[in-house]
Amino acid sequence: MDLSELSPAYVRSIAPYQPGKPISELARELGLDERKIVKLASNENPRGVGPRTRAAIEGAFGDIARYPDGNGYELKLALSKRYGVEMSQIVLGNGSNDVLELVALAFLGPGLSAVYSQHAFAVYPLATQARGARAIVVPARDFGHDVEAMASAVADDTRVVWIANPNNPTGTLVASERLEAFMRRVPERVIVVIDEAYNEYLHANLRAPTVAWLKRHPNLVLSRTFSKAYGLAGLRVGYALAHPSVADLMNRVRQPFNVNGVALAAAVAALNDMEFVARSYADNLQGMRQIEEGARALGLDWIPSYGNFITVRVGRAAEIYKRLLKRGVIVRPVGGGYQLPEHLRVTIGTAEENERFLSALAASLRE
Ligand SMILES: Cc1ncc(COP(=O)(O)O)c(C=O)c1O
Repeated sequence: MDLSELSPAYVRSIAPYQPGKPISELARELGLDERKIVKLASNENPRGVGPRTRAAIEGAFGDIARYPDGNGYELKLALSKRYGVEMSQIVLGNGSNDVLELVALAFLGPGLSAVYSQHAFAVYPLATQARGARAIVVPARDFGHDVEAMASAVADDTRVVWIANPNNPTGTLVASERLEAFMRRVPERVIVVIDEAYNEYLHANLRAPTVAWLKRHPNLVLSRTFSKAYGLAGLRVGYALAHPSVADLMNRVRQPFNVNGVALAAAVAALNDMEFVARSYADNLQGMRQIEEGARALGLDWIPSYGNFITVRVGRAAEIYKRLLKRGVIVRPVGGGYQLPEHLRVTIGTAEENERFLSALAASLRE
């Protein structure tokens, strides 16, 4: 018997998520020393974890024999103070990826649809398809979300619109005014997820006042993460801000202990370490310029990015990706589902890592 037939057709046809190649895997394949490998493939923070957050993590170890606080009281309290929202408006997730899944679990199913953009973050198609919902994919404009066309694409059976702002892997940003006009146009019966995983990398002037919009738009869900500027990708913690009734539905489909105790303690400490986030922002800006200048010197162009990564047009990207691997540099190919076969996405690393990438890229282009 073919056991795969036991699963619904919409599950069987899911194309698995392709994560960045782990350092340990490349080290095994090439017989290289792990310390010689540079991984710029998963938009992590090259600064690592701040000292105050590290101390909070170590402090939380003593409690790991116990289940964590399933309501995440301390973290919700800290977030509610920071953003001026009620605790009932917050949903915590095992990474913001979990939060996205909770939206799909709560609002999507067979016979319903979700709208997202071409080149949008890969979890939107995955979460949509895993629920048996229909995907309405709207062609991108200048690599970014064409929010006007996305509003027009909303159908009678649409329950969710996914928007990444900035988007991964293109790094594109929809300006605040356009996003606000979009929110006014979309009917209230459609949940709009604005995924702000890279929010902390935006200059304050470029950030849309989305938290304030929650008051006017009960169908708005904001998704944020501690994986990027806060440096906690490995611990897995993210959150959503939403209307209390939307948050309530998401919490009903959530695993009772979806965020572990170490992650909860770390996130509270990281949220309060504003200096670490400010430094991460400044490092990123500098690293972005370094890679842009390096790419320009190599005669390459790129998609201007508002995140902690940049997507560079290298031509035969699948081949260049392999050549970079041979030189111990891992970046992210964005052909396949992302439909950008000439580009590679590179995470902004430390100055040294960026330099390693640029020289390996120069050699790979010459090879
Ligand atoms: C746009 C976007 N949203 C969400 C995520 C999920 O991140 P996490 O689950 O680590 O919060 C990512 C990760 O790369 C992302 O790029």
